[in-house]
This record gives sequence, C-alpha cells and structure tokens, in this order.
Amino acid sequence: MAVGERDLDAALDAVLGSGSELAPAAAALSAAYRSGRRPGEVLDDPTAARAYAAVRMPATFAAVRAALRAAGPGLRPTTLLDIGGGTGAAVWAAAATLPSLRSAHVLDGSAPALALGRRIAAGAPDPVLAGATWTQARWPVDLPGADLATLAYFAGELRPEQQVAVVAAAAERAGAVAVVEPGTPAGFADLLRARDTLLGMGFRIVAPCPHDLDCPWATGSDWCHFPVRLPRSARHRQVKGARLGWEDEKFSYVVAVRDGADRPEGRPEGRPEGRIVRHPLQRKGMVELTVCAARPGIERVIVSKRSGADYKAARDAGWGDAWPPHP
Ligand SMILES: C[S@@+](CC[C@H](N)C(=O)[O-])C[C@H]1O[C@@H](n2cnc3c(N)ncnc32)[C@H](O)[C@@H]1O
Repeated sequence: MAVGERDLDAALDAVLGSGSELAPAAAALSAAYRSGRRPGEVLDDPTAARAYAAVRMPATFAAVRAALRAAGPGLRPTTLLDIGGGTGAAVWAAAATLPSLRSAHVLDGSAPALALGRRIAAGAPDPVLAGATWTQARWPVDLPGADLATLAYFAGELRPEQQVAVVAAAAERAGAVAVVEPGTPAGFADLLRARDTLLGMGFRIVAPCPHDLDCPWATGSDWCHFPVRLPRSARHRQVKGARLGWEDEKFSYVVAVRDGADRPEGRPEGRPEGRIVRHPLQRKGMVELTVCAARPGIERVIVSKRSGADYKAARDAGWGDAWPPHP
C-alpha cells in the first residue's frame, strides 16, 4: 500500500522523537523565511535540518502529493530525480502517488539535510524510499537522467537565471518535470519562470493548467495557487508552538511532460478541460466556480440546481479540482 502522512509521521517520530528541543531552531527558520532569506541557506546545520523536517516536511509532502495527484494516472515514471530534495519530502510524495516508481535519487547541497532524509526514509514501509540514493551536489552540476524530475520548494532558493538553467537541465534529462513552490506572489513568479522554461523546451502542461498558452495571471493581476489541508501531529504543534490540529499549506505548481501531442484532442493524458482556481461559492440553488479554461482564460461558471448531475458535482468540487468533472 502507498505510504501516507501517518507513515511519514511515524518515521519522523522514530528519528526526531518529540522534537521538544527544536522549537528555537524552528523559530529561527521562520524568522529566516520572513526576512526573505532562503531557507536553504540555513539548512546546512543538523539542528536546522531537524527543525525543517519537523515543521516543513509534512507540508511539502502534502503539497507535492497534491500536485502529483492532479497530474493523474498518465504519469507513470519508473525513476525519480529529486533536485534540491533536502530531507526527501518529494520522494515521500512520489512514493505515495506513483505506483510505477522503482527508484529515487535525491540531490541536495546540504549534507545534514541528506543524512537526515536518509534516516527518515530508512523507516518507511516502502522499498523506493528505504532504498533511495542521497547525493550531496550543489547546483550547478551535471544531472543524471530520470523519468520524472521534481523540484520542490527549490527554485526559489536560486537566482532567476539559475532557476531557468536548472529547470531547463531537468527538462533535458527527464521525460516529466514537476515544480512546486510556495503559493505566494513571489513563489508564483518563480513558478511562472519554470512554466515558461518548460514550454520553451517543448514540454506540455498536464496540471494545473488546461492549456499551454500564456497564463492569464502572468500579468500580475492575481496569482495561481492551491491549498492543501494537513493534520499537525503533537510534535509538529509543539515544535511550531501551534495549537490547531491542522494547517493549510498554499502552493503553486506545474507538472509538464515532454510528449503528449499524440493524445486525444491534442491534450496530454491527464490534462483537464478546466481547473477550479478559487474556493467554490455555494449560493441558494447555485454554485459559482472560478475556472481557468483554455479559452477565454479565467471565467465565472454558474452551475444551477437545474443542471442535475453537474450541480451535485459542483457542490462536491473544491479549489484545485478539474472542471468539468467529466472529460
Ligand atoms: C526549502 S528546502 C526544500 C527541500 C525539499 N525539496 C522539500 O520540499 O522539503 C530547499 C533545499 O534546497 C537546497 N539547496 C539550496 N541551494 C542549493 C543548490 N545551489 N544546490 C543544491 N541544493 C540547494 C537546500 O539545501 C535545501 O535542502
């Protein structure tokens, strides 16, 4: 059975214990985020890496898993390269979503993050995680080939020209590329740069976009991002000094594949006709959806009670889901 957040939590428990001593390091990490410092700059320390794993790994795992799920079953990689993989959250997410996966290779500049990630993954009930390869390498480096390359919360660590170079290098060496960044205006700007780079390399987008055209929000009028809710364990709450038993992680992402032109209607497998890009609004006898569609771009879709099955689907639909629900 695929690994889930409980398995990740159990593996974190085994390595971090209650994590009670990590609160100051977690606070320092948050302060670094808030001051605009790249968290990677501070992950080069064993205690910071442990704090990162305790407070960020569950969230980055949930975000990457949601992105890979959105790409659908058309994504069938055997090998994974996780670039800037840190403590390996994206490998956990891939193991949770991609049954075809047989091996994973994590590259990162931080030896403490890699060593910790290896110990956490060793406790996973999954052979891909337990057998993953962890290599210290600081971009720019030659990348090994893989069916899927993931860059999770990594592009934003780099300067814009380095972001373009690493995404282009990933696209040269992989058949599919998934990029996930924080769901903030700055994270979305980095994401758009990755999206443009992938399109420039001839890749086609599977998710979230229903097209390969210019993003309607590239003008800066808004930013495309999605929420995922995740449970917080007792350790997570303690290290973060938080009371709520859950948190919402906001993320921006793109999953693109090298081929796909031969698919029905010219759409790569898994690409929806449209995607819901805000919380649906439930009104009396109707649901109002904000949908990104190939044309005309962002549109308001009113689904009234008279629409029958579509109305029920709209009531059940959430931010990030495909729309219409049936292709
Ligand atoms: C915010 S963490 C993300 C880690 C992981 N991908 C995740 O989603 O949890 C950023 C990672 O990028 C790594 N990093 C930063 N600059 C790098 C570089 N030039 N080459 C390789 N790794 C780098 C850091 O060591 C850190 O592990």
